[in-house]
Amino acid sequence: MSQTKPTIYLADYTAPPFVVRHVHLDVDVRELHTKVHTTLSLTRSDGTAKETPIILDGESLDLQSVSLDGAVLAADQYEVTDSTLTVAWAGETCELETVVHLYPEKNTCLMGLYASSGNLCTQCEPHGFRRITYYFDRPDVMSYFTTTIEADKSQYPSLLSNGNLAEIRELADNRHWVRWEDPSLKSAYLFALVAGDFDLLEDTFTTMSGRTVKLHMYVDRGYAAQSKFALGALKRSMAWDEEAFGREYDLDIYMIVAVSDFNFGAMENKGLNIFNTKYVLVDPKTATDMDYVLVEGVIGHEYFHNWSGNRVTLRDWFQITLKEGLTVFRDQSFTEAMLTSDHCRLMEVNDIETRQFAEDQSPLAHPIRPASYIEINNFYTSTVYEKGAEVIRMYQTFMGNEAFRKATDTYFERFDGQAVTTEDFLAVMKETHPALDADRFSRWYHQAGTPTLHVSSDYDAAAKTFHLTVKQSCSVTPETDQKEPFYMPLAMGLLNGAGDHLTTQRQGEEHALTGTRVLTVSDEEQRWTFVNVETKPTPALLRRFSAPVKLDYDYSDEELVCLWLHDSDTYCRNAAKKQYIMRVIHRLADQAAAGELMQVPEAVSQTITDLLAKEEKLLVLSHLIALPSKTYLLQNGSGYTVDQLKAARDLLMKTIGEQCRSALEATLAAYPVNPFEYSVEAQGYRAIRGDCYGYLAAADVDAVSKQLEDLYHSADNMTDVMGVLNAVNDSSSDLRQRLLADFIDTWRDEPLVVRKWLTLQGVAERHDAVEQVQAIMNSDVFDWRNPNIIYGLLGAFTQSWSGFHHGDGKGYVLIRDVALRLDKTNPQVASRIARSLANWQPMDEKRQAMMREALRVIAETDGISGDLFEIASKGS
Ligand code: ARG
Ligand code: ZN
Repeated sequence: MSQTKPTIYLADYTAPPFVVRHVHLDVDVRELHTKVHTTLSLTRSDGTAKETPIILDGESLDLQSVSLDGAVLAADQYEVTDSTLTVAWAGETCELETVVHLYPEKNTCLMGLYASSGNLCTQCEPHGFRRITYYFDRPDVMSYFTTTIEADKSQYPSLLSNGNLAEIRELADNRHWVRWEDPSLKSAYLFALVAGDFDLLEDTFTTMSGRTVKLHMYVDRGYAAQSKFALGALKRSMAWDEEAFGREYDLDIYMIVAVSDFNFGAMENKGLNIFNTKYVLVDPKTATDMDYVLVEGVIGHEYFHNWSGNRVTLRDWFQITLKEGLTVFRDQSFTEAMLTSDHCRLMEVNDIETRQFAEDQSPLAHPIRPASYIEINNFYTSTVYEKGAEVIRMYQTFMGNEAFRKATDTYFERFDGQAVTTEDFLAVMKETHPALDADRFSRWYHQAGTPTLHVSSDYDAAAKTFHLTVKQSCSVTPETDQKEPFYMPLAMGLLNGAGDHLTTQRQGEEHALTGTRVLTVSDEEQRWTFVNVETKPTPALLRRFSAPVKLDYDYSDEELVCLWLHDSDTYCRNAAKKQYIMRVIHRLADQAAAGELMQVPEAVSQTITDLLAKEEKLLVLSHLIALPSKTYLLQNGSGYTVDQLKAARDLLMKTIGEQCRSALEATLAAYPVNPFEYSVEAQGYRAIRGDCYGYLAAADVDAVSKQLEDLYHSADNMTDVMGVLNAVNDSSSDLRQRLLADFIDTWRDEPLVVRKWLTLQGVAERHDAVEQVQAIMNSDVFDWRNPNIIYGLLGAFTQSWSGFHHGDGKGYVLIRDVALRLDKTNPQVASRIARSLANWQPMDEKRQAMMREALRVIAETDGISGDLFEIASKGS
């Protein structure tokens, strides 16, 4: 075995042996190192035996000295390992001091204190604080922190940490010093420190109790204008959280710092968020509408953590979903309120159905609250985050908005200042809504996998009754093969053949119900009977995606088209479209395999034409006329190879482009290009424009190349530009070459736009996709140290069928080698890239074997990180 990091189990949790009454960090930034002098005021916890030594976490620290109650300890009075500092001591309370040196310039894993564009910043969640100083680096140790920072004044004019700024001093030799005091109890993973030279954008927010909070946004010099939207989003988040959840901000200042080297999206450090620039900087020229939406969502997300995460925090790292599931749910609700909720819900569902369902299908499947891990960094997943948010949404659906609000109020108030568990959350929900079957509901926390609801129906015309039978199943996942039934709300309604909505009346009910009704699924198999049903109905099931499950109901083609066009719920409409298109694609593939001519049924183009003519919200229409994503097709295409799926999808795109030409052209003419405006309506115009060009270009690039080229050059916004580039990206036309060359020429100095160019290159379907990506990796736009660049190119590449899934397996080998190389500098990014190889389940046998082999080679490589080892060994 190449790797020996132990597995950590939830069942082994024990309470912390010491209480940290106070932490003081004195940070001195020097040219070649940063000195951190930490003073911990410790008390033995009740029940901790007298002989229990102090064992602090610490990694990659250059230890200078240790003192106990003012006396420097000799080297034989403490013990240091790669990951701990142990001091034998038998007293009740003490002050323990450590001095360490850090070398932020050499820190490439971007955890702890590191340099980004000449500035210093930190990332502590989950285990970065132990790379800054020796500490009990676990979330259930909460303490009061003060931080002093000294540095050169010209190089680091801004010196920031958590809490409120208490004092500033000018020192000799052009140096300065500040003192930050954080009045809140916090876990070490929420610590942050920044020293740098930034542009500062300022504003204020008055809270509901009338306090004025300063808002500070720190960005690289020259980028202040691009951070205005984010600052506005912060104010909208603060106002919304007061109104929707009754949550008020607590400190005098809220700071956000944007850095260009960051392993993920952003971090909710108390009062001092640190963000990837991708989630702060937008303007019409450089960012798409989707970028704006993401910025607002992530700004909201980190702000909402101030209550769901910071004030009420986690007992241990198995509970990540307690803060992340809840906070994603909160940011989704916020975005739904800011934008249009149907469109948002469809985006959320697309995300779950691709990323999260893929995870559940893979050997890396885990419950939203896992029971064991090797490296906790591997559990910041779509399951823990997005499925976790769906679980929160199910509580809300069961309870109704009012009771749910009451329950969250209780949760925040009861556990303020504490480190708690998902059981604590569930108990509050149950207390507020006694009808909730808490035992059954809790299975969502410890059982992995995507349940399938197998629904069947029968209609009795004479009795006018309609029966719905729901059976559930769930494939085996690593944590258990003994699944108990999941408990969930099944929202539904009935339509007649003409697409009109019927009322529903269950047997025994006095009155019929108009609109959606919610059934409670709780058993292996259940049956519901509806009465007074005049004609054979079509059930619309799982409205608004009321549970994170797959649905199996044998609709006829006509029923699917009817739902696609007519249901009142856009989720059901889009789901019907997906099911229908999948069917069409499989039939096309079957025709090709049988040597027959592939024939696209007319209903596809006819329905898209009808939709384009219908009065619809454009952002929703854009979903309804789109083919399911490539990832979705792959996940739901078992039995078909990626080559078969690609041929069928290409034909479908082209056929729609040809058969819907006049409707697409009429749509383009109806929504002319206006000067940029950021509104729901204008976003809808741009989205539809991109969709129309996508189909028209698939049918005949040359026929639209002049229009595309004109739009590319005249557009005043990145959404239209990307619409053009996406439309031509899979084509082998000169136009694609020309526009992409112009694009990189124009934007070479804007890293976030370069990332877009890399993504276009990474996802492109071309016969030489692998060689193209290799060439870019060897060029000077590529940077092995910058996560945005790596995710931009290689994250995108793992979505490409002709690149990543190339029949020779060379795409897999490329990703394998990239992961091994990255692991030496940044294990977290390496393991994220390697995860793609674990999604082998939907592939054909040959590709499955090659993907698993790539993971086996990784797992057997000596000296790899725990991060990468866990993914490679479990994933194969
Ligand atoms: N808590 C941060 C957020 O969701 C993300 C931290 C991710 N950490 C990690 N090690 N992957 O807002
Ligand atoms: Zn979060």
